[in-house]
Amino acid sequence: MLVNIIDFNTLGDERGSLIALEANNQIPFEIKRVYYLFATKPGVARGFHAHKALKQIAICLKGSCRFVMDDGKDKQDVILATPNKGLLIDAMQWHEMYDFSEDCVLMVLADQVYDESDYIREYSKFIEAVNSHVYSSAK
Ligand code: TYD
Repeated sequence: MLVNIIDFNTLGDERGSLIALEANNQIPFEIKRVYYLFATKPGVARGFHAHKALKQIAICLKGSCRFVMDDGKDKQDVILATPNKGLLIDAMQWHEMYDFSEDCVLMVLADQVYDESDYIREYSKFIEAVNSHVYSSAK
């Protein structure tokens, strides 16, 4: 599936809301890395890559941003604007992020530590890889 949104259960009471994320439970993998984007300058677009094997879940903790998800065949635009939804960024999904609100805090959970050799940063190479089925494609 090109766009796979996971709904997180919000645990709340009169004090406010709380969301708990556990590996292999709400998050469908072992979490090896967490990073977050914030203070993104107006007009900036990021991403423009796919990963050969990495799986990630992006959660917009504050504010909003948009994604273009692209599996080499179809493209879909997704808006993230609530902390109770996670967008699965599967292996071999080209993704671009843009329209960051000034207050946007975008947290990403990843199943591997940072590895530049897992990136495909050239769109033509991504399309080549999709067509030659070199890497497992997005489910
Ligand atoms: P980059 O992957 O280029 O960001 P984008 O999501 O916009 O494509 O990452 C920006 C810089 O941060 C780059 O020098 C690599 C570094 N970086 C890490 O060291 N660890 C990480 O986990 C990530 C995501 C990036």
